[in-house]
Amino acid sequence: MRFCNVASYPILDTLTTGLDAEFKRASLRLRNPQDAPTDTERKILEQYQSQLNSSEELLPVVEVLDEQQILNVKPIVMNNPLCLNCHGTVGT
Ligand code: HEC
Repeated sequence: MRFCNVASYPILDTLTTGLDAEFKRASLRLRNPQDAPTDTERKILEQYQSQLNSSEELLPVVEVLDEQQILNVKPIVMNNPLCLNCHGTVGT
């Protein structure tokens, strides 16, 4: 599915090569098992979920993983009816 398949975005190829970066999406409730979060990503997603539950603003998170890697996370909130055509119904 091109719309949601990040591997199909040409701009990501350019950024991947130019910045030696990897892009992925992760979720606590997945469509694709390959999008499972790492332990660090899971903690951030759980924090986002709890902020969402208390109507707090969700901000990007940057974490230094080690001397070689920086994790930069930006939230995608699944509240658009267009998305839910494929991603399910609110509350279920
Ligand atoms: C036509 C069906 C369809 C629509 C509409 C759609 N998605 Fe997806 N989405 C998918 C499929 C299929 C995957 C798994 C694809 C993959 O990982 O290559 C996916 C994966 C994702 C993922 C990665 C986590 C996961 O569940 O695997 C996120 C985040 C996501 N979509 C967000 C959105 C958002 C936000 C919208 C609306 C702006 C949206 N999607 C609309 C089909 C859809």
